[in-house]
Amino acid sequence: MRETTLAAATGAPLFIQVYNEDQEASRAELRRGLTARVPHIAPKFLYDALGSRLFDAITELPEYYPTRTEAAILDAHAEAIAAAIGGVGSVGSLVDLGAASCAKGLRLIRLLRPQRYVAVDISVEFLRAGLTQVQREHPQLQVTGVGLDFSAALNLPPACVQGRAAYFYAGSSIGNFTPADAVPFLAGVRAQAKAGGLLIGVDLVKAEELLVPAYDDALGVTAAFNLNLLLHLNRLLGSDFAVRDWRHVALFNREHSRIEMHLEARRTLTLHWDGGERKFAQGERLHTENSYKYSIDRFDALLRDAGFASTKCWTDSNRWFAVFWASG
Ligand code: AVJ
Repeated sequence: MRETTLAAATGAPLFIQVYNEDQEASRAELRRGLTARVPHIAPKFLYDALGSRLFDAITELPEYYPTRTEAAILDAHAEAIAAAIGGVGSVGSLVDLGAASCAKGLRLIRLLRPQRYVAVDISVEFLRAGLTQVQREHPQLQVTGVGLDFSAALNLPPACVQGRAAYFYAGSSIGNFTPADAVPFLAGVRAQAKAGGLLIGVDLVKAEELLVPAYDDALGVTAAFNLNLLLHLNRLLGSDFAVRDWRHVALFNREHSRIEMHLEARRTLTLHWDGGERKFAQGERLHTENSYKYSIDRFDALLRDAGFASTKCWTDSNRWFAVFWASG
C-alpha cells in the first residue's frame, strides 16, 4: 500500500490518497469482466469526474427518492439518532464512507460535534470542495480526506481514526454489495468501530412503479450516468466503445430483490481494446450495477449476522427508506 500525503496544516484539511492496487490490476479486472460469459463491470467504475457529477445530478431528480428521503429521516429523528449514538461530544471520530460532497456528513457534524471528521471516497479529488467547506464552518474540527477504494476491504491508514468512532454509510450504497458480501464488510466496520457503531442508510423494497423510474428517469440523467462508464473504460483500457451503440437498461429483479443496471448493445458489434476483443450480439448486455433493496427485518438480520448486538431503526412515513444505528 502506498500513501501520498498531499497537504497538511493545522486548521486545514489533511488529504491522503491510498493506492491499494496498481492500474494494471484494475485493467486486468476490467478485461476479465468484459470477457466473462455474462459480461460485467463493477459499479465503482461509474465514478470518474463526470460520473460523480452525474450522480450528484441524479440525487436532485424527482424520481430519485433515496437521497431526499434519507435526509428527511435524519432531520425528523435528529435528536433520537444523536441520543442513540451517545449524544453531543461522545464521538471522537466521525468516519463518513463515500462522503462525496460531505453534505450529509455536515448534518451529523452539527448534530454530534465530533473531534475529528474522516471523509472517505474513491478519489480524494471528489472530497476537496466539500471538506474545504466543512473546515470553514468548523475551524476547530480535525478534518481528513482519504481517497480509498473500500469496496474490497476497509483499510484506512493507521492513526486516521481516533477515539470512539461513529461510522456513517449513507445513501444505501450498501446495496451495491450482495447480501453475502455485505456481511463481512459490515463485520469489518464493526471491528474498527469498537465502542462506537455504524449509522447506515438502507433503501427498502417497494412497488416496481416507484423503484424502476428512480433508475430510469425521464430526463435521461441515469442513462447518461450509466453510459458514461463506456467513456471511462475507453480511457482506462484503450477500448473503442461508441456510446451511441449502447442503450441504458434498468430493471427490478424480484428474485434477488435488486435493481439491476445494464448497457445493451443496439446492434451486433465487436469491441476492441489493447490486446483483446469481444463480440456483442444485438441485445446482449453488460451488467454495470446491482442495487439491493431490503425489508427492515432482513437488514436487521444482516447487521446481526455481521456481529452487531444492538440495532435501532428509523424510517419515513411511506417506509421507503430506513436509517439504522448498529452497535455492540
Ligand atoms: C450510490 C449505489 C446508492 O444504488 O441508488 C443511482 C447509485 N445508480 N442511480 C444507488 C445509483 C443509479 C446509488 N448508490
